[in-house]
Amino acid sequence: MKSIPEINGLPFLGNFLEYRRNKISFLSSLRDTNDDQVWFRLGSHPLLLITNPEDIHWVEAKNAKNYVKATNLRELVGDGILMSEGEKWRKQRRLIQPTFHQGTILKMVDAMNRRIAGFIDELNHEIVLKGDGVIDLGFKLKKLVFEIVGEAVFGSEVGSQFDRLRESMEYINVFLTQRFHQLVTVPLYFPTPSNLKFQKAKRIIDQTIFDVILKKRAELDAGKENEDIITKMMIARDPETGESMSLHQLRDEVASMMLAGFETTGLLLPWILYLVSNNSEVQKDLHSEIDQVLGRRVPNGGDTFQLPFLNNVVDETLRLYPPVWAWTKRAIHSDELRGSSIKAGSILFISPYLVHRHPKIWESPNDFKPSRWTSELRERTKLSFFPFGMGPRTCVGKHLALMEVKLILIQFFQSFSVAPCGDLEVKPDFQVTLGMKESLRLKISRRRS
Ligand code: HEM
Repeated sequence: MKSIPEINGLPFLGNFLEYRRNKISFLSSLRDTNDDQVWFRLGSHPLLLITNPEDIHWVEAKNAKNYVKATNLRELVGDGILMSEGEKWRKQRRLIQPTFHQGTILKMVDAMNRRIAGFIDELNHEIVLKGDGVIDLGFKLKKLVFEIVGEAVFGSEVGSQFDRLRESMEYINVFLTQRFHQLVTVPLYFPTPSNLKFQKAKRIIDQTIFDVILKKRAELDAGKENEDIITKMMIARDPETGESMSLHQLRDEVASMMLAGFETTGLLLPWILYLVSNNSEVQKDLHSEIDQVLGRRVPNGGDTFQLPFLNNVVDETLRLYPPVWAWTKRAIHSDELRGSSIKAGSILFISPYLVHRHPKIWESPNDFKPSRWTSELRERTKLSFFPFGMGPRTCVGKHLALMEVKLILIQFFQSFSVAPCGDLEVKPDFQVTLGMKESLRLKISRRRS
């Protein structure tokens, strides 16, 4: 058996300080100097970083049954699809997957377009009012995505509660990230100010979810079947057992959707606009593809598949800034990874960010080059590009997210051009998800019709 190098760092702290100072430069240097498998330590926790696509494919797909999620988000999502394992997860996935079917998503396009048109109108007004066209897009895009995913999951009913819900979700994201990066964690029942704030945020989320579920159930009982995901989950029956979801399971599933769906899509869009704003050739090609295929017509769902350059821009951004930049998996039984032995209980650290920028796989890995996405590259990087994960636990919301992002970009670039605001350099923020250190401000101008 091959032996895996171990970078142990300091006694007690391990590599904690280097990791905290700059996670990416620390992890990239491990990737580049240790032949794709290396142990490091955060405090007393040893972690095995794997950056070879074959190893990751083995863990995530081929031998996925031997690996479970090692990050604990149960405090928020209970036993929903995001955190459950084994037979329970399989049952949930069977029930939920069909609710994200292309056909269902296509039926949501009109509602998405209405929200996007409202967003474009708001931007138009703001440009006129402000004169210089400099707009804080980060917050506006997050809000738009929150409303669109919120409507897809809940229906339109919770509109007035969006702000409270969004604030609570954002607080929980920060709270969980901090907990993940602490050497010692205080139990949740201990009444520290941050624990109390977490409990309050969780109560708001629970209350909103339960209110919507009860309202939807009453509507269903009265014979009204809505197109939203909660209603679809309520009527779904397990094809093998014929069972439907209990109220508490529904709550956990909806919380899972919120955690998995809001933040991720809301982070991708600002990165796309930032990269395009800094690359005038790409923007020109994007404008001309959209003008040729659609002109000023409102896009329908089918149009999103007819814009190969837009698709490349989205994929190239997902390559450089995958919103879920890393996660951990625990081996249930001992295993072997290309000749290295893995003990039962080992925690593996997997990062699309590190693989998507691996210099052995990608040419000029840090450059934004949408034109690199030829069919040959797509074929060659099948295992090396996985912004939505891979294998049986791959993202269920992928098609919804891509449809939404593309509809927003089409309408945005039909109306506007973007340019950087001064020489502002946006820095990435590696929390549970990959955001920006500051909200994105860009100079927006209206295109002539
Ligand atoms: C750009 C947007 C998105 C990205 C990059 C993304 C990425 C991911 C990734 C990487 C995973 C797998 C993580 C792992 O293996 O541990 C995942 C799982 C998941 N995602 Fe997404 N996601 C996005 C949008 C969405 C949306 C819009 C929804 C739903 C509304 C959603 C729902 C889920 C769920 C429920 C899971 C768990 C699936 C399972 O464990 O069976 N995601 N996502």
